[in-house]
Amino acid sequence: MVSRVIPVDPFDLVIFGASGDLARRKILPGLFRRFQSGQMTGDSQIIGAARSDMDDAGFRELVRGAIDEFGPKQTKSDEVDEFLQHLSYVPIDAKGTGGWDLLKSKMRDGCVRAFYFSVAPALFGDLAERLHGYGIALDDSRIVVEKPFGKDLASARALNATLAQHFREDQIYRIDHYLGKETVQNLMAVRFGNMLFEPLWNAQYVDHIQITVAETVGVGGRGGYYDTSGAMRDMVQNHLMQLLCLIAMEPPAKFEPDAVRDEKLKVIRALDPVLPHHIVRGQYEAEGDHPDYRSAVENPRSRTESFIALKTHISNWRWAGTPFYLRTGKRMRARTSEIAVVFKETPHSIFGPDAGSHRNALVIRLQPDEGITMDVTIKEPGPGGMRLVDVPLDMTFADALGPDAEDVPDAYERLIMDVIRGNQTLFMRGDEVEAAWAWTDPIIQGWETRNDVPKPYPSGSAGPEDALALMHRDGRRWREVK
Ligand code: BG6
Repeated sequence: MVSRVIPVDPFDLVIFGASGDLARRKILPGLFRRFQSGQMTGDSQIIGAARSDMDDAGFRELVRGAIDEFGPKQTKSDEVDEFLQHLSYVPIDAKGTGGWDLLKSKMRDGCVRAFYFSVAPALFGDLAERLHGYGIALDDSRIVVEKPFGKDLASARALNATLAQHFREDQIYRIDHYLGKETVQNLMAVRFGNMLFEPLWNAQYVDHIQITVAETVGVGGRGGYYDTSGAMRDMVQNHLMQLLCLIAMEPPAKFEPDAVRDEKLKVIRALDPVLPHHIVRGQYEAEGDHPDYRSAVENPRSRTESFIALKTHISNWRWAGTPFYLRTGKRMRARTSEIAVVFKETPHSIFGPDAGSHRNALVIRLQPDEGITMDVTIKEPGPGGMRLVDVPLDMTFADALGPDAEDVPDAYERLIMDVIRGNQTLFMRGDEVEAAWAWTDPIIQGWETRNDVPKPYPSGSAGPEDALALMHRDGRRWREVK
């Protein structure tokens, strides 16, 4: 299979917060990969803008270091040198006047202009205002904003209103990097490109759907942010919600931004409120050299969750009665993200009660080992009568697609290229984000009112025991985290 790289139009991309963690880990090494692949052509430029006092040479060295640490392993130094020639730096005062005239002088006519706000949301308004005030943003310029997009419905509305003062909705690209993951898009390809699944994709045939995003890392150096956020705000309100939408939405008429986003919005609006006994929260315990959650965030009385499992329903014609179980946590046994669509048992077993209970499951593995598995029931080979066993029909993309699977762009790379192309399909619309907060807010408020304390769970486990019970009570079980 030959990968097709279609170069994007020449662009001027300004990265605000260019010396920050996200820019170093993801944005800049990702742009280098797109340059290497030929998708970003030599007539584009990247301008770093941040508070630090640095010159072009200093910024280029910073980016060289970022590529060394986080970039592709196969890198020739002359390729990096060539890439760095397209980079420059402007020290900028987001709340004042410093640097803005210089930035304006660097922008070229006739290129796509994009502005990446990789900064605290408190600065979004100031940046948006100055980009307009100085005449840097044009009518077709785009801005890219990172999560967290608010911390509740009120703050998300306020952010949307602030951005709307200066930019139209079709200029605003709200990133959820999960939407840029290859397998997440494959989810749509599998659902809407095959006749096989869609007729079964409803409450009549699906027993339940479970979504797991398990991480082995702890909160690391992000304790300050994380303790004000927790797994609900950090992962469920955005990443897991987006996965839920894609798995549950109606087929959009076209694979176009508003057609897809309208369908996702309908799913979020149809979500039932979550009952308190359908949620389990947890905090990881210490293990070896790794501190426990409360020490990691330096808050001995923290009530913020590093793990959450919950059950919800979508009250619409397709899904009424089908539970959706979501689970995510830090310091768990393995790094694994997957969506499992578990089908109902056959209405009658011709093999009698000894054959046991069997359910087909379509499992979409987002990471690692991206791929799709279909659990099917077959006869256990050999003598001994008709004994049934479930085996996976496995399609690991790396095997099926050969070496090209390695060249798949990282989520950020793909999404930035979509910004340049002006394609918002994989970005969240303002009303979607607000609807997600409207569902999340009462859950969080409930914990606050009840002074809910998360349950401790051992690092390296699958979360608190109660999370297992959440499924067992319903006669179901979580797939193993491995
Ligand atoms: C981020 C969260 O959005 O996603 C992090 O803020 C989390 O806490 C990360 O670790 C997970 O992303 P990925 O791509 O590694 O699954």
